[in-house]
Amino acid sequence: MFAIDAHDVTKTFRSGWLRRRETAALRGVSLTVPRGAIFGLLGPNGAGKTTLLSILSTLLTPDAGSARVLGLDVRRDASALRRRLNMASGRPSFLWSLRVGEIVALYGRLYGLHGRALRRKVDELVELYELVPYRRVPYSELSTGLKQRVALAKSLVNDPELLFLDEPTLGLDPDVSVRVRQHIARLRRERGITIVLTTHYMREAEELCDEVAFIKGGLILARGTPAELKRQIRLGEVIALKLDPPAVPWLAEAPGVLRCVEEDGWIECTVDEAEKRLPEILRALHADGVVVRNVQVHEPELEEVFVELAK
Ligand SMILES: Nc1ncnc2c1ncn2[C@@H]1O[C@H](COP(=O)(O)OP(=O)(O)OP(=O)(O)O)[C@@H](O)[C@H]1O
Ligand SMILES: [Mg+2]
Repeated sequence: MFAIDAHDVTKTFRSGWLRRRETAALRGVSLTVPRGAIFGLLGPNGAGKTTLLSILSTLLTPDAGSARVLGLDVRRDASALRRRLNMASGRPSFLWSLRVGEIVALYGRLYGLHGRALRRKVDELVELYELVPYRRVPYSELSTGLKQRVALAKSLVNDPELLFLDEPTLGLDPDVSVRVRQHIARLRRERGITIVLTTHYMREAEELCDEVAFIKGGLILARGTPAELKRQIRLGEVIALKLDPPAVPWLAEAPGVLRCVEEDGWIECTVDEAEKRLPEILRALHADGVVVRNVQVHEPELEEVFVELAK
């Protein structure tokens, strides 16, 4: 059974003078997400990630296409569906003057909680997100990390079966991001919540998601497990070299080198297998009298994945 089953969803925004400016945010997106999965939507700015989440969570209606979420139609069954899902944004905005406890309670009331049940739920979530010391602090006085924790706390008030997280680690310190990711994994493990999240970070998707889809220009370009995708697009690791002399023409043709680009004085070689190719390349450079000033090996960046996918 799918948590999400969407077919050919399109959405065009009209804005500006006489609403004449049109932006095709989604141009026929089909997507299935199994129940209990953590699913990642990866894509650059403006790809359509937030628009897709908004449609699947009933905040926006699609122009065309169909989407069933938890077995319900996002248009016809929107109100029944809303009770069973929730979302949190990495750019949360709540009424600035409300205090942390009041925000969580407000949303609890919107889902029909009151009296003891409401107080218990607010206590539980304030504790879960370690917000106890901030309970009476107005939202506007919180740091980015705390605001995000409030957004996550709010997103669990109705014990959702499905949670949409729009860039949950945006702007967080690395150590805080790690904890947020661990927490997301725990929500699935302990509560069985299906989670669909968006991110710009390849590593975040790899660490957290069972499957990812790449979206760009309102279209899904590929989907699969991170390992499948890398194999599918033959995406290797990157060996970055600072050389003297700085350019070595034969490098692009060396065995196992898929691609070579120059950037900021670095030569970045995408290779099939860094462990095997690095010693070979270093030996060949040495034999050619080229001095290696610096060398780094890293995973391909999201941008490089897209370069490959957009071809
Ligand atoms: N309310 C709106 N009115 C007009 N255009 C919009 C609106 N919302 C989104 N868009 C446009 O639709 C496209 C997709 O936007 P969306 O916010 O879904 O992208 P995104 O993948 O979430 O990007 P980001 O990574 O920057 O959050 C963009 O070109 C954006 O400018
Ligand atoms: Mg977005």
